[in-house]
Amino acid sequence: MLQVNHLSKSFGGVHAIQDVSFSVRGGAVHSVIGPNGAGKTTLFNLLSGIYVPSGGEILLDGQNVAGHSPDTLARRGMSRTFQNLQVCMNMTACENVMLGAHLRTRSSLVGGMLGTTRRADAALRDEALRLIDYVGVGAHAGAHASQLSFGMLKRLEIARALAGKPRLLLLDEPAAGLNDTETHEITELIRQIAASGVTVLLVEHDMKMVMNISDHILVLDYGRKLAEGTADEVRANPQVIAAYLGAEVEEEGAA
Ligand SMILES: Nc1ncnc2c1ncn2[C@@H]1O[C@H](COP(=O)(O)OP(=O)(O)OP(=O)(O)O)[C@@H](O)[C@H]1O
Ligand SMILES: [Mg+2]
Repeated sequence: MLQVNHLSKSFGGVHAIQDVSFSVRGGAVHSVIGPNGAGKTTLFNLLSGIYVPSGGEILLDGQNVAGHSPDTLARRGMSRTFQNLQVCMNMTACENVMLGAHLRTRSSLVGGMLGTTRRADAALRDEALRLIDYVGVGAHAGAHASQLSFGMLKRLEIARALAGKPRLLLLDEPAAGLNDTETHEITELIRQIAASGVTVLLVEHDMKMVMNISDHILVLDYGRKLAEGTADEVRANPQVIAAYLGAEVEEEGAA
Protein backbone atom coordinates (compact mmCIF):
# COMPACT_ATOMS: atom_id res chain seq x y z
CA MET A 1 0.00 0.00 0.00
CA LEU A 2 2.80 2.38 0.94
CA GLN A 3 6.37 2.31 -0.30
CA VAL A 4 8.87 4.83 1.03
CA ASN A 5 12.12 5.22 -0.88
CA HIS A 6 15.21 7.07 0.37
CA LEU A 7 13.13 9.57 2.31
CA SER A 8 15.01 12.49 3.91
CA LYS A 9 14.09 15.62 5.83
CA SER A 10 16.52 18.18 7.21
CA PHE A 11 15.85 21.21 9.35
CA GLY A 12 18.90 23.39 8.79
CA GLY A 13 21.73 21.15 9.97
CA VAL A 14 19.45 18.64 11.72
CA HIS A 15 18.92 15.51 9.62
CA ALA A 16 15.67 14.39 11.21
CA ILE A 17 15.09 11.66 8.59
CA GLN A 18 17.94 10.34 6.49
CA ASP A 19 17.61 7.99 3.54
CA VAL A 20 14.82 5.90 5.10
CA SER A 21 13.18 3.20 2.96
CA PHE A 22 10.44 0.76 4.00
CA SER A 23 7.10 -0.53 2.87
CA VAL A 24 3.72 -0.97 4.52
CA ARG A 25 1.63 -3.93 3.53
CA GLY A 26 -2.13 -3.43 3.38
CA GLY A 27 -4.05 -5.09 6.21
CA ALA A 28 -1.11 -5.32 8.62
CA VAL A 29 -0.10 -3.43 11.77
CA HIS A 30 3.28 -1.77 11.30
CA SER A 31 5.11 0.05 14.08
CA VAL A 32 7.88 2.62 14.11
CA ILE A 33 10.02 2.67 17.25
CA GLY A 34 13.17 4.46 18.32
CA PRO A 35 14.57 6.72 21.04
CA ASN A 36 13.29 10.28 21.64
CA GLY A 37 14.28 12.48 18.74
CA ALA A 38 14.83 9.50 16.40
CA GLY A 39 12.58 11.06 13.78
CA LYS A 40 9.33 9.13 14.27
CA THR A 41 6.98 12.12 14.34
CA THR A 42 8.91 13.76 11.51
CA LEU A 43 8.32 10.60 9.47
CA PHE A 44 4.58 10.85 10.19
CA ASN A 45 4.62 14.55 9.27
CA LEU A 46 6.22 13.63 5.94
CA LEU A 47 3.82 10.77 5.25
CA SER A 48 0.75 12.85 6.10
CA GLY A 49 1.86 15.84 4.01
CA ILE A 50 2.58 18.28 6.84
CA TYR A 51 6.25 18.46 5.83
CA VAL A 52 7.65 18.44 2.31
CA PRO A 53 10.53 15.93 2.08
CA SER A 54 14.07 17.16 1.37
CA GLY A 55 14.43 14.06 -0.81
CA GLY A 56 12.97 10.67 -1.63
CA GLU A 57 9.63 9.22 -2.61
CA ILE A 58 6.40 8.28 -0.85
CA LEU A 59 4.45 5.92 -3.08
CA LEU A 60 0.80 5.46 -2.08
CA ASP A 61 -0.75 2.72 -4.21
CA GLY A 62 2.22 3.17 -6.54
CA GLN A 63 1.88 6.92 -7.02
CA ASN A 64 4.41 9.36 -5.60
CA VAL A 65 2.56 11.61 -3.16
CA ALA A 66 5.62 13.21 -1.54
CA GLY A 67 4.84 16.85 -0.83
CA HIS A 68 1.10 16.52 -1.49
CA SER A 69 -1.09 18.47 0.92
CA PRO A 70 -2.62 16.83 4.02
CA ASP A 71 -6.15 17.17 2.65
CA THR A 72 -5.18 15.54 -0.66
CA LEU A 73 -3.66 12.66 1.27
CA ALA A 74 -6.71 12.45 3.54
CA ARG A 75 -8.93 12.13 0.49
CA ARG A 76 -6.65 9.38 -0.76
CA GLY A 77 -7.22 7.44 2.42
CA MET A 78 -4.64 8.56 4.95
CA SER A 79 -5.62 9.79 8.43
CA ARG A 80 -3.55 10.36 11.53
CA THR A 81 -3.59 11.19 15.20
CA PHE A 82 -1.14 13.56 16.86
CA GLN A 83 1.33 12.96 19.67
CA ASN A 84 0.02 16.17 21.25
CA LEU A 85 -3.75 15.81 21.11
CA GLN A 86 -5.45 17.95 18.46
CA VAL A 87 -8.81 18.10 20.20
CA CYS A 88 -10.82 21.34 20.38
CA MET A 89 -11.55 21.62 24.09
CA ASN A 90 -14.46 24.04 23.71
CA MET A 91 -16.33 21.71 21.36
CA THR A 92 -18.29 18.57 22.22
CA ALA A 93 -16.88 15.11 21.62
CA CYS A 94 -19.32 14.70 18.74
CA GLU A 95 -18.37 18.01 17.11
CA ASN A 96 -14.69 17.08 17.33
CA VAL A 97 -15.31 13.87 15.42
CA MET A 98 -17.49 15.67 12.86
CA LEU A 99 -14.52 17.96 12.24
CA GLY A 100 -12.50 14.89 11.27
CA ALA A 101 -14.86 14.16 8.42
CA HIS A 102 -14.63 17.60 6.85
CA LEU A 103 -11.36 16.89 4.98
CA ARG A 104 -12.98 13.96 3.27
CA THR A 105 -16.35 15.50 2.54
CA ARG A 106 -14.79 18.84 1.57
CA SER A 107 -17.53 20.55 3.53
CA SER A 108 -15.08 23.07 4.90
CA LEU A 109 -15.46 24.60 8.32
CA VAL A 110 -16.53 27.81 6.67
CA GLY A 111 -19.05 25.78 4.67
CA GLY A 112 -20.17 24.27 7.95
CA MET A 113 -20.71 27.68 9.46
CA LEU A 114 -22.59 28.91 6.40
CA GLY A 115 -24.76 25.83 6.74
CA THR A 116 -24.22 22.64 4.75
CA THR A 117 -27.50 20.96 3.96
CA ARG A 118 -29.25 19.64 7.04
CA ARG A 119 -29.35 16.12 5.68
CA ALA A 120 -25.59 16.00 5.09
CA ASP A 121 -25.09 17.44 8.55
CA ALA A 122 -27.32 14.82 10.15
CA ALA A 123 -25.51 12.01 8.31
CA LEU A 124 -22.18 13.41 9.49
CA ARG A 125 -23.49 13.56 13.07
CA ASP A 126 -24.83 9.99 12.95
CA GLU A 127 -21.50 8.75 11.67
CA ALA A 128 -19.64 10.71 14.38
CA LEU A 129 -21.88 9.21 17.08
CA ARG A 130 -21.27 5.72 15.70
CA LEU A 131 -17.51 6.27 15.80
CA ILE A 132 -17.56 7.71 19.31
CA ASP A 133 -19.46 4.64 20.40
CA TYR A 134 -16.99 2.41 18.55
CA VAL A 135 -14.00 3.88 20.43
CA GLY A 136 -15.84 3.53 23.75
CA VAL A 137 -16.72 7.14 24.57
CA GLY A 138 -20.38 6.82 23.58
CA ALA A 139 -21.71 7.90 26.97
CA HIS A 140 -19.95 11.26 26.60
CA ALA A 141 -20.77 12.17 23.00
CA GLY A 142 -22.49 15.40 24.02
CA ALA A 143 -19.96 16.42 26.66
CA HIS A 144 -17.42 19.15 26.08
CA ALA A 145 -14.00 17.69 25.33
CA SER A 146 -12.66 19.60 28.34
CA GLN A 147 -14.81 17.37 30.59
CA LEU A 148 -13.32 14.13 29.27
CA SER A 149 -10.49 12.24 30.93
CA PHE A 150 -7.14 12.06 29.16
CA GLY A 151 -7.77 8.42 28.28
CA MET A 152 -11.09 9.35 26.64
CA LEU A 153 -9.44 12.20 24.72
CA LYS A 154 -6.90 9.74 23.27
CA ARG A 155 -9.83 7.63 22.04
CA LEU A 156 -11.67 10.67 20.73
CA GLU A 157 -8.56 11.55 18.72
CA ILE A 158 -8.74 8.10 17.12
CA ALA A 159 -12.46 8.54 16.38
CA ARG A 160 -11.68 11.88 14.71
CA ALA A 161 -9.07 10.22 12.51
CA LEU A 162 -11.48 7.40 11.63
CA ALA A 163 -14.07 9.96 10.55
CA GLY A 164 -11.83 10.58 7.53
CA LYS A 165 -12.61 6.95 6.52
CA PRO A 166 -8.92 6.06 6.19
CA ARG A 167 -7.47 2.99 4.55
CA LEU A 168 -4.19 3.83 6.26
CA LEU A 169 -4.28 5.15 9.83
CA LEU A 170 -1.17 6.70 11.39
CA LEU A 171 -1.22 6.70 15.21
CA ASP A 172 1.45 8.78 16.97
CA GLU A 173 1.87 7.41 20.52
CA PRO A 174 -1.76 6.42 21.23
CA ALA A 175 -0.78 4.92 24.61
CA ALA A 176 1.41 7.78 25.86
CA GLY A 177 0.19 8.91 29.30
CA LEU A 178 -2.22 5.98 29.71
CA ASN A 179 -2.19 3.53 32.63
CA ASP A 180 -1.88 -0.24 32.11
CA THR A 181 -5.64 -0.85 31.89
CA GLU A 182 -6.17 1.99 29.43
CA THR A 183 -3.19 0.81 27.38
CA HIS A 184 -4.65 -2.68 27.22
CA GLU A 185 -8.01 -1.26 26.11
CA ILE A 186 -6.49 0.93 23.42
CA THR A 187 -4.43 -2.03 22.19
CA GLU A 188 -7.66 -3.97 21.75
CA LEU A 189 -9.23 -1.01 19.95
CA ILE A 190 -6.29 -0.83 17.52
CA ARG A 191 -6.58 -4.58 16.94
CA GLN A 192 -10.28 -4.12 16.12
CA ILE A 193 -9.52 -1.27 13.72
CA ALA A 194 -6.92 -3.40 11.95
CA ALA A 195 -9.32 -6.35 11.82
CA SER A 196 -11.89 -4.10 10.15
CA GLY A 197 -9.47 -3.73 7.23
CA VAL A 198 -7.74 -0.44 8.05
CA THR A 199 -3.97 -0.67 7.75
CA VAL A 200 -2.29 0.74 10.85
CA LEU A 201 1.07 2.47 11.18
CA LEU A 202 1.89 3.04 14.82
CA VAL A 203 4.52 5.09 16.64
CA GLU A 204 4.73 3.98 20.26
CA HIS A 205 7.19 3.81 23.16
CA ASP A 206 5.27 1.13 25.07
CA MET A 207 7.32 -1.90 24.00
CA LYS A 208 4.91 -4.44 25.43
CA MET A 209 2.16 -2.99 23.25
CA VAL A 210 4.38 -2.73 20.17
CA MET A 211 5.68 -6.30 20.47
CA ASN A 212 2.15 -7.54 21.08
CA ILE A 213 0.37 -5.90 18.22
CA SER A 214 2.85 -5.42 15.35
CA ASP A 215 3.22 -7.59 12.28
CA HIS A 216 6.25 -5.54 11.31
CA ILE A 217 8.51 -3.09 13.16
CA LEU A 218 10.77 -0.37 11.78
CA VAL A 219 13.46 0.92 14.14
CA LEU A 220 14.77 4.46 13.70
CA ASP A 221 17.83 5.92 15.39
CA TYR A 222 19.19 9.41 14.70
CA GLY A 223 16.90 9.68 11.68
CA ARG A 224 18.19 6.52 10.06
CA LYS A 225 16.74 3.04 9.72
CA LEU A 226 18.52 0.89 12.27
CA ALA A 227 16.61 -2.33 11.66
CA GLU A 228 13.27 -3.77 10.61
CA GLY A 229 11.45 -7.06 10.87
CA THR A 230 9.05 -9.02 13.02
CA ALA A 231 8.86 -8.42 16.78
CA ASP A 232 11.08 -11.44 17.41
CA GLU A 233 13.65 -10.33 14.84
CA VAL A 234 13.80 -6.79 16.20
CA ARG A 235 13.92 -7.93 19.82
CA ALA A 236 16.90 -10.16 19.07
CA ASN A 237 18.81 -7.58 17.00
CA PRO A 238 22.02 -6.63 18.90
CA GLN A 239 22.11 -3.12 17.37
CA VAL A 240 18.52 -2.47 18.46
CA ILE A 241 19.21 -3.73 21.96
CA ALA A 242 22.30 -1.52 22.20
CA ALA A 243 20.61 1.63 20.85
CA TYR A 244 17.16 1.31 22.32
CA LEU A 245 15.67 -1.85 23.73
CA GLY A 246 18.45 -2.35 26.28
CA ALA A 247 17.43 0.83 28.05
CA GLU A 248 13.72 -0.04 27.76
CA VAL A 249 14.25 -3.49 29.23
CA GLU A 250 16.27 -2.00 32.10
CA GLU A 251 13.48 0.52 32.75
CA GLU A 252 10.90 -2.27 32.78
CA GLY A 253 13.07 -4.22 35.20
CA ALA A 254 13.40 -1.21 37.50
CA ALA A 255 9.66 -0.47 37.43
N1 LIG B 1 9.91 21.55 12.80
C1 LIG B 1 11.16 21.24 13.22
N2 LIG B 1 12.16 22.14 13.16
C2 LIG B 1 13.40 21.83 13.57
N3 LIG B 1 13.75 20.62 14.04
C3 LIG B 1 12.80 19.69 14.12
C4 LIG B 1 11.46 19.92 13.72
N4 LIG B 1 10.73 18.79 13.91
C5 LIG B 1 11.58 17.89 14.41
N5 LIG B 1 12.83 18.42 14.54
C6 LIG B 1 14.01 17.70 15.03
O1 LIG B 1 14.08 16.48 14.36
C7 LIG B 1 14.51 15.45 15.23
C8 LIG B 1 13.47 14.35 15.27
O2 LIG B 1 12.32 14.81 15.97
P1 LIG B 1 10.97 13.97 16.06
O3 LIG B 1 9.98 14.81 16.75
O4 LIG B 1 10.63 13.46 14.72
O5 LIG B 1 11.40 12.76 17.00
P2 LIG B 1 10.54 11.59 17.62
O6 LIG B 1 11.21 10.32 17.24
O7 LIG B 1 9.11 11.74 17.28
O8 LIG B 1 10.76 11.82 19.19
P3 LIG B 1 9.75 11.56 20.45
O9 LIG B 1 9.87 10.09 20.75
O10 LIG B 1 10.37 12.40 21.52
O11 LIG B 1 8.39 11.99 20.06
C9 LIG B 1 14.77 16.10 16.58
O12 LIG B 1 16.15 16.42 16.65
C10 LIG B 1 13.91 17.34 16.50
O13 LIG B 1 14.44 18.35 17.32
MG1 LIG C 1 7.40 12.05 18.34
